[in-house]
Amino acid sequence: MRTVRDIQFLNNIPILVRAGLNVPIENGKVANDYRLRRALPTLHHLAERGAKIVIVSHIGEQGTETLAPVAEALGKLIANVSFSPVTIGEQTRAAVRALAPGHILVLENLRRDRGELRNDVTFARELAALGDIFVQDSFDTCHRPHTSIIGVPKFLPSYAGLLLEEEVRELSRALTPVHPALAVIGGAKFATKEAVVTTLLKTYDHVFVGGALANDFLKVSGHGVGQSLISGTDTSTIRALLSNQKLALPVDSLVVPASIANTPNARMHARIAAVGQVRDDEVILDHGPGTIALLTHLVERAKTVLWNGPLGIYEKGFIDATDALARTIATSGAYSVVGGGDTVASIESLGLMSHFSFVSTGGGAMLDFLAKGTLPGIEALTAHPSA
Ligand code: 3PG
Repeated sequence: MRTVRDIQFLNNIPILVRAGLNVPIENGKVANDYRLRRALPTLHHLAERGAKIVIVSHIGEQGTETLAPVAEALGKLIANVSFSPVTIGEQTRAAVRALAPGHILVLENLRRDRGELRNDVTFARELAALGDIFVQDSFDTCHRPHTSIIGVPKFLPSYAGLLLEEEVRELSRALTPVHPALAVIGGAKFATKEAVVTTLLKTYDHVFVGGALANDFLKVSGHGVGQSLISGTDTSTIRALLSNQKLALPVDSLVVPASIANTPNARMHARIAAVGQVRDDEVILDHGPGTIALLTHLVERAKTVLWNGPLGIYEKGFIDATDALARTIATSGAYSVVGGGDTVASIESLGLMSHFSFVSTGGGAMLDFLAKGTLPGIEALTAHPSA
């Protein structure tokens, strides 16, 4: 993969950078600037060499959100950032022409244009016209077949940014782990995680499936999960995975009657139930102490720990098992790789970020990379080397 370090002349050259600026916004302000800080090494590299930096990114899912507060927050982390309220067209081209060397222009949310999600060739040409060179640094979006991911590299000489380079290097290392190796895959939506669980079962010594994902496995094993969330995945797929001795599952759960699961009193009425003891009217909120002990045992023996996805209903405050796992990994001395929004939020809120060997900026992108060893956005950089 060619990276920004391979670009020889940058002074006064307009460089189109696809950055990963999809950050949470609360009350019109950036609520967490972690991804912005991870975008800085590439921006510094380009700015210090006098490039005219044009950033494109998406924010949110609706296509209605604006990157204006993101540009403002970025401006507090690096000098000379301005914002263009339009993404393409003559107004943007004029703003790019007026950019001074080393200065940064953030263009409005790519997804405001319907062409972005469709990998539209006209939109790709419009974007490509804004730079002489393209730099892909949005690892978090490299699993999406969108215009700014797979379309633009067809029209410009294309390079990986320093964040993308680091993500590929560290996650590739996790693909061939030092043994004993433990993977913990939590969260929900089994369809998005089936491929990675299948791959990791080949290369890791233990794969612990937790969070709501575990409910599907427990159910197919014949253990009731009451009213808990299940993905409804094809049972034969799960049965095949269950027969693998490397697969580990929760042994107990924090449960509560479903009728009060969404009330402030839920925790007060919760009880610990061993696997198989969840009643029909109950719902699983989190893993129990037996499962935390099992995970501690596995982590303490591992030389590599890979983790993506929370263990309990994190967004409703059932964070005990997730936080316990974060603390155990942080003090374990294992090479640790972690990713996914809620997982990283847990580590950050505990102040443990620096205790992990590598924190990925990707959620779905991390899982897809681990399942396939590459992503469409990475392939696109090498598919048109002479562009
Ligand atoms: C993410 O936050 O996972 C990436 O920025 C991709 O966002 P998306 O799921 O809206 O495509």
